[in-house]
Amino acid sequence: MDLLDAIRRRHTTNGAFADRPVDPEDKRRLLEMAARAPSHFNSQPWRFVVVEDEERRKTLGQIASDSMRHLIEEGAFWQQYKRYFRFSKEEVEATKDGILIDNMPAVLKPFIKYLFTEQGGKMMNALQVPRVLANDARKLVERSPLILGIALTRGEYKPGELAGLYSMVSLGAVVQTIWLTATSLGMGFQFISTPQEIPENWERVSALLGIPTEYELMLLIRLGYIDPQVKRPAIDWTSPQRKGIAELVFQETWGNPLDNEQPARTDERSP
Ligand SMILES: Cc1cc2nc3c(=O)[nH]c(=O)nc-3n(C[C@H](O)[C@H](O)[C@H](O)COP(=O)(O)O)c2cc1C
Repeated sequence: MDLLDAIRRRHTTNGAFADRPVDPEDKRRLLEMAARAPSHFNSQPWRFVVVEDEERRKTLGQIASDSMRHLIEEGAFWQQYKRYFRFSKEEVEATKDGILIDNMPAVLKPFIKYLFTEQGGKMMNALQVPRVLANDARKLVERSPLILGIALTRGEYKPGELAGLYSMVSLGAVVQTIWLTATSLGMGFQFISTPQEIPENWERVSALLGIPTEYELMLLIRLGYIDPQVKRPAIDWTSPQRKGIAELVFQETWGNPLDNEQPARTDERSP
């Protein structure tokens, strides 16, 4: 696949992957490409843990599920991240960012605009939304053929210092390298961030992956082959929209419009 094509096609895979393991050749290619990512002074501050063992994936699935249930039931998650949620195409058009909840059971639709109120939260709990989302999270994670943990060495990852910033930039580069390589191999990619929202659950994940104290587990990602036949999760979102170049970029100094900028397409993703 052409690189520009891979960049356009890359997206988050929210649904299940095809029910087959990752080909050892593809796995090798993913990791070899990851190792080619740039890092400050070529420090290569990352280490990767590949999880394929069924029992370990099941445990990760349970932790992801517990985390999802707790976050949604408790309500703080909605409050913390509500600025990113969109519930209509009009809202998306207005901001061209955030994530659009575009798939949900019909029974929930009338309540969705009250989601961020205390009453709405209670209603969602009564309608079993946390249970549905937690169950989906468990299945998605435990049935992913490959789960990847990425850790950074604490010798470089020092929040507050420039080395800390450089490590984060390097981490971003490695993530995008893996994601584009996966796309070119017909594979999907999704972050598993919910356990990270709950420190004790993230510690459970770190312990399960055997991360030593000199390293910090930064990210957990699930990977597998894309299966176009797979049904979407019961409650699902999409976010192909992007702000136009004219809004994102200035010429020479902040606020100065870019020369000859054409109106940008906001969704360039190929089918
Ligand atoms: C640091 C980071 C954490 C993310 N965490 C999650 C996550 O926990 N679950 C998820 O489904 N997507 C997660 N995402 C994916 C973003 O929501 C997604 O990239 C964005 O909405 C754009 O959509 P796209 O990837 O389909 O282009 C994360 C992305 C980043 C960069």
